[in-house]
Amino acid sequence: MIPITPGQRLTKAGVAAQVIRSIIGRSWPFDSRHFEALYRAAPDPWHVTVKPNEQRKYAATLALLPEGCSYEAMEVGCSEGAFTLLLAPRCKSLLAMDVSATALERARGRNVENRHVNFLCADVRRLHGEAQFDLITIMEVLYYLPGAEAVEEARRTVIQLLRPGGYLLLTHLQGWGDYTPHARGLQKLEHGIKGCCRCLINVGLRAIGAPIMARAPELHASFRNTPELEVMAETIDPEFQVLLLRRT
Ligand SMILES: C[S@@+](CC[C@H](N)C(=O)[O-])C[C@H]1O[C@@H](n2cnc3c(N)ncnc32)[C@H](O)[C@@H]1O
Repeated sequence: MIPITPGQRLTKAGVAAQVIRSIIGRSWPFDSRHFEALYRAAPDPWHVTVKPNEQRKYAATLALLPEGCSYEAMEVGCSEGAFTLLLAPRCKSLLAMDVSATALERARGRNVENRHVNFLCADVRRLHGEAQFDLITIMEVLYYLPGAEAVEEARRTVIQLLRPGGYLLLTHLQGWGDYTPHARGLQKLEHGIKGCCRCLINVGLRAIGAPIMARAPELHASFRNTPELEVMAETIDPEFQVLLLRRT
């Protein structure tokens, strides 16, 4: 990976080149420097503010949250704070964290009115402390961890930070990569093609011994099969899955 110096701007092509270089070099491409470079290259890298599907994903996630509680919550991978803005009214306090300082700066700006929201630049696997949250959300973060052991590390960390009876809300895409809204038939075709591409890419990555990105079903399964967590509710959409768990 190219080290990023403060103030340096990278183009999207530069970011893509970094990812390809690290795949060829068999190192994990999606580390904090990757995300920092992505956010410095352009705001809103996944176009969450303009894509209706992102809003649908946010609404489906919030819909699974039990009503009548004002949570002491943590949002893992808050990005530029678009979901933070929607989650904040449901919280007494909210710690929004991410590995990218640039993303957090924008998240802070977007949530300036929400004085009960605090921001933290950290890796979810490096968090320590006693159970202090009664809600933790992890939306589209786990695929970016370098393999099953890292997901396991994140799982152990968040369980430790969750009070007994506290909720863990996971949202991840069914497919690999980006998606766009289209008519249903076209969408199915697109998903089929993306599925084939994903298989081919994964076979290629496996052949050169590079790490492979997992998807919602595999990622959520590792949390579902945890003795400290019980499954409360689930939404399975053609594009994403939302899983609500509760710490026993
Ligand atoms: C695809 S974005 C998802 C953003 C937001 N949760 C959403 O769904 O709109 C992934 C975010 O996770 C952050 N991230 C990646 N790895 C992380 C880690 N190990 N710990 C905390 N945040 C991480 C990235 O910086 C990025 O902002």
